[in-house]
Amino acid sequence: MTDLFAVRWVGPAERGGPAVALLDQTALPDREEVRYCRDVDTLAEAIRSLRVRGAPALGVAAAWGVVLGALAGTSPRAVADLLASQRPTAVNLAWACHRVAAIGEDPEALAAEARRIEEDNAEACHAMGRHGADLLAATLGDRPQRLLTHCNTGMLACQGIGTAFGVARTVFADGRLAQLLVDETRPLLQGARLTAYEAGALGMPHAVVADSAAASLMAAGEVDAVLVGADRIAANGDTANKIGTLGLAVLAQHYRVPFLVVAPVSTIDLDTPGGGDIEIEERDPDEVRTALGLVRLAPEGSPARNPAFDVTPAALVGAIVTERGVVDAPYTGALSRLAGAQAVAAGN
Ligand code: MRU
Repeated sequence: MTDLFAVRWVGPAERGGPAVALLDQTALPDREEVRYCRDVDTLAEAIRSLRVRGAPALGVAAAWGVVLGALAGTSPRAVADLLASQRPTAVNLAWACHRVAAIGEDPEALAAEARRIEEDNAEACHAMGRHGADLLAATLGDRPQRLLTHCNTGMLACQGIGTAFGVARTVFADGRLAQLLVDETRPLLQGARLTAYEAGALGMPHAVVADSAAASLMAAGEVDAVLVGADRIAANGDTANKIGTLGLAVLAQHYRVPFLVVAPVSTIDLDTPGGGDIEIEERDPDEVRTALGLVRLAPEGSPARNPAFDVTPAALVGAIVTERGVVDAPYTGALSRLAGAQAVAAGN
């Protein structure tokens, strides 16, 4: 296995550069293929088709996309607008490319900002991992932990160890992980294809489960905590994440299982007051009607719906783990302090 990465910048002086290199996640777990995006349109297609995905990784890819565009003489703001429009729900995408575009036109200065976003993200993952693992130890005690996660929130979704997955990885490093239960995550199977791939590569004990198995596993007392990432956290704590997250949160409340959202402060969007204000990406119904486009599951022409995300109300979120610490309800004041401090640090 090559070293896993989501996004890598290939500078103009390097062989094959300038390019935004992506480990094409649509080919995993079968093939490890690196895709070199040498122009902004190729990168936009890669974002739309989930060759790169996961909120923080989308941000890093788009940040480098602005640099790529500037090197070709395209206005940074125009590139940022184009890339941000490819996927509406993950706030990190728009946040990162507009942050880079705000620097100006000089490609070197833009590249320095993109690099900062990438490095900050990796550091944030480590801090979230530690905070989350400490919180779980304080909540669950010394017993080996059976953690359930949804979608993919690991190295492939971030530049770093990941968000929710990074917490599980830290628990594993601490010698406390009994098993990571990996929701397959219909319809595009980010859990089965990507999270299981990462867990396997790291030697973490894990088992892929059908999304619909979560209820009976929780009922049987086989889940000690649920860990999920986020694509956008509204000012009141309502959290958009991969479709299926809301169902897990409802179950977790019913069965009194801790439900934790793990996300960097850059995923908190104070401009979005509540979950009802979050735009939910609706994707091609064929993603539901087929298995990864390979096998037809529903009759051709059957109507299908494919909302890619759902919103978990803050009332169902046990705690939000960020790189700056853990917050719990009531969220409004705590999130505004965290994200407000970030805006000041970034000079916004
Ligand atoms: O459609 P995707 O695969 O980009 O969705 C990803 C998720 O929903 C993740 O849980 C979220 O982006 C957090 S990634 C650290």
